[in-house]
Amino acid sequence: MKPEGLATLIFLDGGDPDETRRAIEVVGFLDGQTTNPTLISRNPEAGKRLEKGRKFSGREILEFYRDVVKEISGMIPEGSVSVEVYADPGTTSDSMLIQGREMFSWIHNAHIKFPTNGEGLRAAAEAVQEGLRVNMTLCFQQAQAAAVYAATRGARKGDVYVSPFVGRLDDKGKNGMSLVANILEMLKKGDGHVQVLTASARRFDHLMAALKYGSDIISAPLAVLEDWGRKGLPLPGDNYLYDAEDLEDIPYLPLGLKGEWTDYDIFHELTIKGMERFTLDWKSLTDS
Ligand code: G3P
Repeated sequence: MKPEGLATLIFLDGGDPDETRRAIEVVGFLDGQTTNPTLISRNPEAGKRLEKGRKFSGREILEFYRDVVKEISGMIPEGSVSVEVYADPGTTSDSMLIQGREMFSWIHNAHIKFPTNGEGLRAAAEAVQEGLRVNMTLCFQQAQAAAVYAATRGARKGDVYVSPFVGRLDDKGKNGMSLVANILEMLKKGDGHVQVLTASARRFDHLMAALKYGSDIISAPLAVLEDWGRKGLPLPGDNYLYDAEDLEDIPYLPLGLKGEWTDYDIFHELTIKGMERFTLDWKSLTDS
């Protein structure tokens, strides 16, 4: 049962339908799931196949991803399932859009993940015009979230997520949860069409802080959801304070939301690194 007063949607971050089953068991409900190329590369069925020395062809790996996503979607038909396009730093918006359209047709409840770089934003702007739902991933700074807002202006609430990557900022000594707080604060000035999905959550306290700050969604790995389930699905109380330990807070920037997406300085090296890592993991599965 969903705890009373829980406003944040709870997603699983994973690429294995068995984990989806387990998350539903331990938590009692699941509002959605996010997947990505790295998580699909860790899927046990894919692993078994690779152990036999049988890599996937380009078409087979897409079919495998589609089947995994369909199985997950069947378990959470009322929820959302994020499916990520292949995008290396040189991938064009046209290529992302072609992939996104196909992936969107796989299931009835997809959000298509595009990277929050220039090409990804261009693809997203067109995708929402066509009625696709999008999840803008690999977001590491407020300006990227502002650009997502601008690029998808006019979309319906629920159709656009922006995913700040908390754990990867923590890895660099920055307080990733402070970015979530800043983006939430900035988006209060908007029309509500962009929802904040706290991503790259690694610890129980990321979950607690996301609930405390009022993140629209948090996507957490199974281990974190199991931990939450074992503890009895607690919610942060009035006195809850997120302990960022020695991580450095990211300062709030007074960015307006009225500009065009091209007005914002969106470059972040972790976005590029993230794309490189996702595509490397994807390529580890294929023979091409
Ligand atoms: O969905 C994004 C998430 O899986 C990234 O997590 O732990 O690789 O930074 P992580």
